[in-house]
Amino acid sequence: MQDPLSRFKADRQAAWGAKDPMAAVCVLATVDTDGLPQARTLVLRDVADGSIEGLAIYINASSPKWQQSQGRVAIQTWWPATQIQYRMQASCQELPADHIADSWQLRPDPPKRMDWLYQEHPQGSHVKDRQTLLDLLDATVLPEPLVAPEGAKGLLLLPDVIERLDLTQSNGVHDRVRYHREGDRWQQRTLVP
Ligand SMILES: Cc1cc2nc3c(=O)[nH]c(=O)nc-3n(C[C@H](O)[C@H](O)[C@H](O)COP(=O)(O)O)c2cc1C
Repeated sequence: MQDPLSRFKADRQAAWGAKDPMAAVCVLATVDTDGLPQARTLVLRDVADGSIEGLAIYINASSPKWQQSQGRVAIQTWWPATQIQYRMQASCQELPADHIADSWQLRPDPPKRMDWLYQEHPQGSHVKDRQTLLDLLDATVLPEPLVAPEGAKGLLLLPDVIERLDLTQSNGVHDRVRYHREGDRWQQRTLVP
């Protein structure tokens, strides 16, 4: 049986090949403090950096989603170009500070500045209006040399349930498979789509 994470990577590669812009992202679903689901689009990275290998997301610790991601999360991808959906349940492991320090330097300028702004004004907090936000951003003091702030964080996703739904069957009956990790092994089951 093909390892489902390798299968995911191969499928995502095919989506990239088909120029699917959704290949870059996932939807991260968490549960907030009121027990309500919260979902948002995030860039989904494939990290290989020394001992760190796998799918990763980069988020700011000032956002409520940071606390919400300390236990288990769900992510979902959908690639219209290749008609494949993945749903995963994963536990999360914080990416080491030295990895964040290096990868943060590759970010474009505006998100770097925003990460520093979040130190004083948490992501998702209220501002009077957009001009106030832009003024706050202008007034944000950046360190010299420019380094990642404390709040810039990332999570390695450790999926243990992976579900693949393939809509390309010629007979119109979708192919739905769920993989369940047990120890080092993955179990595979076919599900009614
Ligand atoms: C295509 C796309 C990519 C995004 N990538 C990220 C990302 O990598 N990290 C991030 O924190 N927010 C990203 N966002 C913004 C989030 O969807 C969300 O609006 C923001 O993080 C605030 O979410 P929160 O209320 O859960 O804190 C992205 C949005 C879009 C549309």
